[in-house]
Amino acid sequence: MAHRMLPVITAAEIQRRVAELGAEISAFYQGQPLVCVCVLKGAFMFFADLVRRIDLGTGGPEIDFVRLASYGNATSPGCQAVFSKDIEVDVAGKHVLVVEDIVDTGRSADFLLGVLEKRGAASLKMCAFIDKHERREVGVTVDFAGFPIQKGFIVGYGMDYAEKYRELDAVYELVPE
Ligand code: IMP
Ligand code: MG
Repeated sequence: MAHRMLPVITAAEIQRRVAELGAEISAFYQGQPLVCVCVLKGAFMFFADLVRRIDLGTGGPEIDFVRLASYGNATSPGCQAVFSKDIEVDVAGKHVLVVEDIVDTGRSADFLLGVLEKRGAASLKMCAFIDKHERREVGVTVDFAGFPIQKGFIVGYGMDYAEKYRELDAVYELVPE
């Protein structure tokens, strides 16, 4: 199927917003031990930009990575999630911030928060580059949201369609022709 790519968020807008989010997160966790967990693959670019904007006064956050495998296709993420790569740091007694590319139905975020909660984190919060409302099924709270988007399938800045477009530094909507 052929698609048109409609510009939605420019690279400059992204960098401005990521700096704001970084400042907000830094102020919120000031002086506390923080672990930022990147949800692969989609959040990799956002995560790399975001952690460079987080200053806890005592240094930066600890970082780690998780990968979820969901059963589904490219445009309709599956409803069942499993870890295909777990985090490696011990989160007990530390504050944990999960960093996602998009919270869409909320199912993967809900699954991940549920698992991490059982590991004794001091607190657990969610940061998503895109907070997409159209298909929300699970009432997860996005504590730090980059951009709210009502609908549409978007790519770029880490986000893919069938593993394409992740490398782009801006965000586009894929519109079928
Ligand atoms: P959820 O479990 O439905 O919230 O799915 C979230 C995941 O689905 C995100 O982390 C993305 O990997 C993927 N996803 C949802 N919407 C989009 C989109 O518009 N473009 C690219 N990936 C998406
Ligand atoms: Mg994806």
